Amino acid sequence: TFDAFPERDGVLHAEAIPLDRLAREYGTPCYVYSRAALTRHFLAYRDALGEMPHLICYALKANSNLAVLDVLARLGAGFDIVSVGELERVIAAGGDPAKIVFSGVAKQADEMARALEVGIKCFNVESRPELERLDRVAAERGQVANVSIRVNPDVDAKTHPYISTGLKANKFGVAADEVFELYAWAAERPNLKVVGLDCHIGSQLTELSPYLDALDRLLALIDRLADHGIAIEHLDLGGGLGVTYADEKPPAAGDFVSAVRERLAGRELTLLLEPGRSIAANAGLLLTRIEYLKPGETKNFAIVDAGMNDLIRPSLYQAWQRIERVDTRELRQSALYDVVGPICESGDFLGQARELAVAEGDLLAVRSAGAYGFAMASNYNSRGRPPEVLVDGDVSHLVRQRESVASLWALESRLPTASSQTE
Ligand code: LLP
Repeated sequence: TFDAFPERDGVLHAEAIPLDRLAREYGTPCYVYSRAALTRHFLAYRDALGEMPHLICYALKANSNLAVLDVLARLGAGFDIVSVGELERVIAAGGDPAKIVFSGVAKQADEMARALEVGIKCFNVESRPELERLDRVAAERGQVANVSIRVNPDVDAKTHPYISTGLKANKFGVAADEVFELYAWAAERPNLKVVGLDCHIGSQLTELSPYLDALDRLLALIDRLADHGIAIEHLDLGGGLGVTYADEKPPAAGDFVSAVRERLAGRELTLLLEPGRSIAANAGLLLTRIEYLKPGETKNFAIVDAGMNDLIRPSLYQAWQRIERVDTRELRQSALYDVVGPICESGDFLGQARELAVAEGDLLAVRSAGAYGFAMASNYNSRGRPPEVLVDGDVSHLVRQRESVASLWALESRLPTASSQTE
């Protein structure tokens, strides 16, 4: 199987470049992405969709680095955004605003206005009050907003509860019974145009059945709407296709698409998808260096220079990501380690009970970190976020600089001298 980070002569590479060379050049911790992997993952969807009318709207939240967006935009990608910040990123990266769908439960009026101004493809609306607000904003601007209602199909995505979104108990979407009313209302409003129906049931899905259950429910709804003279042009199935972190065997994008196409045969629907993780996760890794080894009575710790502020998934979701020694040419004794970071919290770990043959100063690669890695990084403990490097064959591009320490308080200020109180 394809791996953008292959081992050659005992050293892990990013495409054609040894990772230790990248570490020397850019320092650690450092995110490394592969252009070939991003491309390949996107094309898996595009090839499977073939002649079928479709738009693959990459979900920016997974990884919104401009270079990543640039790579995908050049391949014809659309984008799924959830904020005006993500909207401006698409534009800055040369993406086409007419291929943007706007998701999210809390869209503000000024975000809607900007999205209308640049002419996005569709608003994925998540509630009645949001639909009413969108109607007002569009009317004020004298524009027509294309809308899709996000249905909550009430299916169990069988994934981690924090990333399961299609259950009644979740804040997302509109219950199937209410959807009908909302479309009927929207159809009467001159500043709204009903174009689609969407859902997103969760993330890191490893089975097809929840998708197909959701799809069946959506298709039944589309038929019911058609009976009432409301025509749906596109169906947006959201994102969520899982990836292999450990030994999961999620359906391949091509198989997923085939199954969906089969169900859609004979219908004149454009299919939209919003994949994030399945495009970015295994196109990236986090490179980190061991600062200290700390043997203990009950546990050994490998203390590294990346922490939960750089990669929060292990701490937040108990997510397992493979951790590998970059250069295995020197023989070392192996032991079980908790790989922990510099943050002052016991929850600050990148991996627990990992068998590693390592010494102080060794480089480690935390795999599958291209999605929800840098994108969820913070400055906790006043740590500048790591640089991001995109590798393209034997060339590397620094696509985000390491944050300087001074930049961390660039937006802050001390009190005016006049108000100072000295004791
Ligand atoms: N569309 C919508 C409306 C979404 O809410 C999401 C993800 C996606 C698309 C993309 O889903 P994907 O293909 O990446 O599964 N931070 C978590 C994942 C949160 C996903 C939230 N929504 C993690 O690191 O596992």
